[in-house]
Amino acid sequence: MSVKIFDTPEVQDFLKTVAGFDQDGGSERGKQIMHRLLSDLYRLVDDYDVTPEEFWSSVSVLNALGEGTQFGLLAPGLGFDHYLDMRMDAEDKQRGLSGGTPRTIEGPLYVAGAPEAEGFARMDDGTDSDAEVMWLTGQVRDVDGQPVAGAKVEIWHADSKGGYSFFDPSQSEYNLRRTIITDSEGRYTARSIIPSGYGVPEGCATDQVLKLLGRHGQRPAHIHYFISAPGHKHLTTQINLADDPYTFDDFAFATREELVIEGKRIEDPAEADKRGLEGPFTEVVFDVELARTDAPELQHRHKRPRALESEEAASQAKV
Ligand code: DHB
Ligand code: FE
Repeated sequence: MSVKIFDTPEVQDFLKTVAGFDQDGGSERGKQIMHRLLSDLYRLVDDYDVTPEEFWSSVSVLNALGEGTQFGLLAPGLGFDHYLDMRMDAEDKQRGLSGGTPRTIEGPLYVAGAPEAEGFARMDDGTDSDAEVMWLTGQVRDVDGQPVAGAKVEIWHADSKGGYSFFDPSQSEYNLRRTIITDSEGRYTARSIIPSGYGVPEGCATDQVLKLLGRHGQRPAHIHYFISAPGHKHLTTQINLADDPYTFDDFAFATREELVIEGKRIEDPAEADKRGLEGPFTEVVFDVELARTDAPELQHRHKRPRALESEEAASQAKV
């Protein structure tokens, strides 16, 4: 049976009451947004004749997502992270701040407080003996091609099984997470291992939602970056390794053509020797171009929930 009651004065008045319009306290913006959100959902219930069973099963999914702190995992799959990027790209364009290496999503798996090094860092703990050695290097430049010395390059990525340290308790602390400060030529270099693609854990609430949509939860092999320097726009980005089956089929919609990088396999022992390596390795080169800005709020990453970030901020405040 189908009834349509959304447009009745009774329902419209009810929505205003639910959103607190007749109350003095609370946040005006909060009320407006909640009123709009609830109106859209009420209308959806009416339009699709959502049954009580369907409504309560959605509540169960939301509870499971919350219990597993999975909203941050599902959000990229539903395109929210990429949509926010599209909005920020449009804002940059409007401000005349286009140019530089493109941004793409942060993802939910950053951990604050990784060890910091000047110019070079080894990122892996040496335990993943099957993994291919990755020599990851690049130069940070401004939009005029001038090197940016002293830029902060934060890098994090998964291991050869697609797991991230901290979230995967079998890995050592800060494995595959480092902050590297660029040298006088704006260069950074890391010795690490080639990551594997990442997949949403089988059977979790996020996976259930994706399965409902007939979608997979796979990401191509990728490497995350935060890059910042005084006077420059903070950049959140990542590179996707070419030739991964998911390079252009990323469930998190993070791949951008300009950010697909082909690693170069190097077998020459002399080249390995130069880098202090023992055998063949894969070199991945990612140069970064930072846009300039004087606006302090554009020189820092956005606030969002991040592992260990509040603890780090708190401990810095104490020093
Ligand atoms: C997710 C995981 C990632 O490693 C990433 O980069 C983006 C999204 C996720 O599980 O949603
Ligand atoms: Fe990731």
